[in-house]
Amino acid sequence: MSEFIPVLTKEEIATRVKDVAQSISTDYKDRDLILIGILKGAFIFLSDLIRHLSIPVKVDFMCVSSYGSGTSSSGRVKLVKDVDLELKNMDVIIVEDIVDTGVTLSYLVDHLKSSGAASVRICALIDKKERRKTTVVVDYVCHSVQKGFLVGYGLDYAEFYRNLPEVYHLKL
Ligand code: IMP
Ligand code: MG
Repeated sequence: MSEFIPVLTKEEIATRVKDVAQSISTDYKDRDLILIGILKGAFIFLSDLIRHLSIPVKVDFMCVSSYGSGTSSSGRVKLVKDVDLELKNMDVIIVEDIVDTGVTLSYLVDHLKSSGAASVRICALIDKKERRKTTVVVDYVCHSVQKGFLVGYGLDYAEFYRNLPEVYHLKL
């Protein structure tokens, strides 16, 4: 039997998302900001985050895949969908569900910088530290954990559990 151990309640998520949105609104006042949500995991986080921003912002999406249906990354990143908006001279924040090895984000940062973005920062719902393999810096974080496979609030296990309103540690 799999076990769901609570990690973040709805209220905790709401508070942290609001705090991060406030920091972004302050840091990017009078700049040309695009938030790029990474599909599919970031779709719920991004949609809550942007509704708490007090500055003008554009939104786009990218889709990459590195995962099979298990709980560890394949280590290769495949670009499934690129951004549609012009990034030249824009300040970009990548919005990601969770940073694990950091391989996906290093790929995305390189890709977006080479698309002409003026700056690229990272905003993640969860920073999972134990398996980091890259030096990627996560600029905005809602919650940090050492390890564990998390689901809910957009995070999936084999495409399930994205719809859970809280975040859980899934013990298989
Ligand atoms: P990374 O390239 O190893 O940093 O992996 C990042 C991607 O792996 C995330 O965008 C997630 O889609 C997925 N991932 C990593 N850890 C978890 C987890 O605990 N739960 C759900 N997805 C995860
Ligand atoms: Mg993801």
